[in-house]
Amino acid sequence: MTLTAKQFQQKMLVWFTSSGRKHLPWQQTKTPYSIWLSEIMLQQTQVATVIPYFERFIQHFPTLSSLAKADIDEVIMLWSGLGYYARARNLHRCALSIEKEYLGKFPEDLSLLQNLPGIGRSTAGAILALAFGQPAAILDGNVKRVLTRFHSISGWSGSSKVSKQLWDLAEHYTPKNKHIRQYTQAMMDLGALVCTRTQPKCTECPLQSHCKAYTENSIANY
Ligand code: ADE
Ligand code: SF4
Repeated sequence: MTLTAKQFQQKMLVWFTSSGRKHLPWQQTKTPYSIWLSEIMLQQTQVATVIPYFERFIQHFPTLSSLAKADIDEVIMLWSGLGYYARARNLHRCALSIEKEYLGKFPEDLSLLQNLPGIGRSTAGAILALAFGQPAAILDGNVKRVLTRFHSISGWSGSSKVSKQLWDLAEHYTPKNKHIRQYTQAMMDLGALVCTRTQPKCTECPLQSHCKAYTENSIANY
């Protein structure tokens, strides 16, 4: 028996209320700038590592324009230890681009966001959902894992066929009018805290009774 999108959202929102993360530093101000910065840092780095870097970075560059005006060496220095330095270079280029092309304001549009340096479809969706409250879907590694298991989708998630399937599902389940922030955070948190890569905690999962991988006992395959 499959869940409707509404039922899926409801389960995720109830779970978020009891178990989701609500005190992450970037959840406090929710400006497009701070959401964007956190999402770039979180692309390849774990939350626990990101937190002190995020706080130092925001103290040093409290606004997009302060970042755009900075010297790239200073940006790299604040980034040092996070790795994947292309992210820091793109971050700076992106800040300059928004200053110049969009008068210092993040565009509230999926394709315009995706055209900026370092922002892919999922990061663009996260900015729209978390900063602007728009009904945009995300599909980061965590969400991919949840949806892949929930629907027991086989094949490599990087293939265009599977990727399209997963994006379609991500969009299908995304709430279209309310609670988009909580839902989006809930999906990320479920993947990070419950539906983990190894030894997922299915007994704590709000989706368990409808999860195909769980009911087929085939979690190890995904
Ligand atoms: N990974 C990517 N975005 C995240 C967020 N907002 N919270 C926790 N983990 C994340
Ligand atoms: Fe993941 Fe287990 Fe939940 Fe299925 S039941 S979504 S495998 S945690």
